[in-house]
Amino acid sequence: MKGTALVLLTATVAVITDVVVGTDVCASCHPNATCTDKMDGTGGKVCNCMYGFVGNGRTYCQDKDECQLGRICGEHSRCHNTYGSYFCTCVSGYSPTNNLAVFIPNDGTYCHDVDECIVDGVCSEGGVCTNTDGEFYCKCRTGYTVQNGSEPFQPHTHSAYCEMVDCGPPPSVPHAVQIPPIVTRYGSVVQFACADGFTWTSGNVTAICGPDGHWSFPSMHCKEVECGVPPSFPHAIMLWNGVSNVGAEVRYQCVDGFYNAGHEDMCVCTSRGTWSLLHFLCQEVNCSEPRPLPHTQLVWNGSSTLGSVALYECEAGYRSVSTESVSVCGSDSQWSAVQLHCEVYCGPIPMLQNAEVLWENGTIAIYHCVKGYYRHTGSDISVCDTTGRWRVATMRCRELKFSVQSLTVLNEKCLRWRTAAEMKGYKQQYAVVFIGVRDFDPSFSDQRRKVFSSSALHPVVCLNLQPITNYTITVTAQETGDTATVTANTSIPAPPTPEVRYSEVDSHRPTLRLRRAISSLDPICVYQVIVLPVAGVLVFDCGSSRSCGGEYVAAQLQLYKLGVEVNFTLGNREQYGPFYNAPLENGRDYYIILRTVCTWGQARKQSCVIWAKARGAYYATRISALATFGSIGALGFFSTTVYGCCWFWKVHRF
Ligand SMILES: *[C@@H]1O[C@H](CO)[C@@H](O)[C@H](O)[C@H]1NC(C)=O
Ligand SMILES: *[C@@H]1O[C@H](CO)[C@@H](O)[C@H](O)[C@H]1NC(C)=O
Ligand SMILES: *[C@@H]1O[C@H](CO)[C@@H](O)[C@H](O)[C@H]1NC(C)=O
Ligand SMILES: *[C@@H]1O[C@H](CO)[C@@H](O)[C@H](O)[C@H]1NC(C)=O
Ligand SMILES: *[C@@H]1O[C@H](CO)[C@@H](O)[C@H](O)[C@H]1NC(C)=O
Ligand SMILES: *[C@@H]1O[C@H](CO)[C@@H](O)[C@H](O)[C@H]1NC(C)=O
Ligand SMILES: *[C@@H]1O[C@H](CO)[C@@H](O)[C@H](O)[C@H]1NC(C)=O
Ligand SMILES: *[C@@H]1O[C@H](CO)[C@@H](O)[C@H](O)[C@H]1NC(C)=O
Ligand SMILES: *[C@@H]1O[C@H](CO)[C@@H](O)[C@H](O)[C@H]1NC(C)=O
Repeated sequence: MKGTALVLLTATVAVITDVVVGTDVCASCHPNATCTDKMDGTGGKVCNCMYGFVGNGRTYCQDKDECQLGRICGEHSRCHNTYGSYFCTCVSGYSPTNNLAVFIPNDGTYCHDVDECIVDGVCSEGGVCTNTDGEFYCKCRTGYTVQNGSEPFQPHTHSAYCEMVDCGPPPSVPHAVQIPPIVTRYGSVVQFACADGFTWTSGNVTAICGPDGHWSFPSMHCKEVECGVPPSFPHAIMLWNGVSNVGAEVRYQCVDGFYNAGHEDMCVCTSRGTWSLLHFLCQEVNCSEPRPLPHTQLVWNGSSTLGSVALYECEAGYRSVSTESVSVCGSDSQWSAVQLHCEVYCGPIPMLQNAEVLWENGTIAIYHCVKGYYRHTGSDISVCDTTGRWRVATMRCRELKFSVQSLTVLNEKCLRWRTAAEMKGYKQQYAVVFIGVRDFDPSFSDQRRKVFSSSALHPVVCLNLQPITNYTITVTAQETGDTATVTANTSIPAPPTPEVRYSEVDSHRPTLRLRRAISSLDPICVYQVIVLPVAGVLVFDCGSSRSCGGEYVAAQLQLYKLGVEVNFTLGNREQYGPFYNAPLENGRDYYIILRTVCTWGQARKQSCVIWAKARGAYYATRISALATFGSIGALGFFSTTVYGCCWFWKVHRF
């Protein structure tokens, strides 16, 4: 840059405007003047305005505008006047050569052009700076375009700026795909590859984002992949729909009689344009020899091809429960499974004499003797052994000889009989049936059946037989049916005495009471009221019908005609059956005895109880012999001992 070397001398001319002689000249100087010696040698003083001021040095010194003196600062400069001085600056785009902000012209400094482009990034990114005299401008570099304005532009004054070109989404290429990374700015390169199922044949596979913001279009060509005709395999049929692009499938099947010895049956057209390798091999079906099964015989004609048949049968001595015994050679070169399970078979179950099979399952049989026979010796089990032979039961059955002989009745209670001697120790079941009837009571019947087992030679069975009953008893040996019948006529038992309350009464017509038990023997029983006068030694025989001690029967009452409660009045002068109820004699003491008598045919049984003691109303004297009876209990019982011709009885004390 050129500077104008203009040197302007601005030396202040000291103008002597006034000289004051005889006075203090210096004191009259303007504040902006200086007092100096005169140059004339007179020794006088003179006031001179200071540098930059113009005036008379005394009354006035005014500022001089140096900038009015023309272009004193040089080109591209600006003059700045100051009070009493001035300075220079450079205009925009220029700078002083003294590298300071200001200068004065006479030191050789001038204004030269500033290279704004030196400052980095003055045009910001993408801008290219061009310096001109005192200025600069910006343009966008290739790959950048101006935004918000036009070129050239001044970044300080314009709002335009440069922005990198962006081509936007890359173009789409038929049957091709873009390979990342995908950058869309100027200069970016995008690679393409053929899509699946397509293959590159020619052309450039790149697209470039150009400075104009457009992508170059790749020249590549992608052709669809074709695998062609699939391979064929011997003995196989191909199941193919004619399509041979990528992903197309072909299935293979072996023809009849062949099977796939490989482990695949499908191949696929790969993206390399070839069919995938296939492990497929059709081999002729060959089942080889059928597998032997235990205890079987094989019936086979040696053919191992598809559909060949092998028959399994159990070998001799063996038998199968299942029937499935045919095996067929299948398409997988395998004989079909056979469920034949041959087990030892000894043939039909052996029979034993006089015995039958109780249980069997083919290999085991259990026997028992038929009816009328018994197991005498030996085992009752036949076992089919592993050699296919029966180990036959050794059991022997003998005829049963149970019998009922010499059937007798013991003590009207138990039966005893005898069976066959050789049956001793073999348990036998007997049925005892007994039927009891009573002539005096047609409604009575005692029919019972009792089953009973015994192994005794002389079996005894006791029965709970009713009294005074004619029984017909039949014993049957269950096994043999042998039977025997016997009669048993039970006897009369001692009848039970009624419930009486012993009392002592002072009356010749006392009423006595009793409470009786009801029994099935009532029709043949009576109560007899016996009046026994007290005199000397008391002797009374309950079983005797003869009078021993002057006693008499006052009344006889049929039991079955009586109620449960009975009131009997002694001495009422009435006839009871063949007996007369005579009044008691005054002044005498009596024992009143109640006798129960049961009679059937020739048999008779009785029992007695003291009912009361009756005493004459006006005889209060105690009889010494009665002292024994003073403390008799409410109910007494008898014991009897022989005394002379009669039975002696006495009442026991409690
Ligand atoms: C003298 O000059 C100065 C500047 O240097 C100025 O401020 C001042 O007013 C002047 N004095 C008079 C009296 O003019
Ligand atoms: C574009 O220019 C206008 C003025 O001309 C300014 O106001 C605006 O901010 C500028 N836009 C950008 C993005 O710089
Ligand atoms: C593809 O084109 C680009 C420019 O578009 C070039 O730089 C490149 O070398 C070309 N590649 C091939 C393989 O021709
Ligand atoms: C079947 O296979 C057996 C051996 O596994 C072989 O000996 C026989 O020859 C084969 N038969 C055929 C018809 O291929
Ligand atoms: C063997 O039997 C099959 C049927 O299972 C039959 O098809 C085949 O002809 C027979 N082969 C011979 C040699 O008899
Ligand atoms: C028969 O029964 C026996 C004993 O329970 C048993 O061991 C055997 O296996 C059975 N036999 C058959 C054919 O079921
Ligand atoms: C038992 O039978 C005999 C003879 O037939 C007969 O006299 C008697 O009255 C019968 N006894 C009973 C209680 O039926
Ligand atoms: C028992 O009574 C029956 C009539 O039921 C008679 O035939 C038989 O002789 C009597 N037996 C005895 C031992 O009295
Ligand atoms: C017996 O006599 C008592 C009292 O005297 C009386 O209550 C009862 O009813 C009588 N019984 C009968 C069966 O007459």
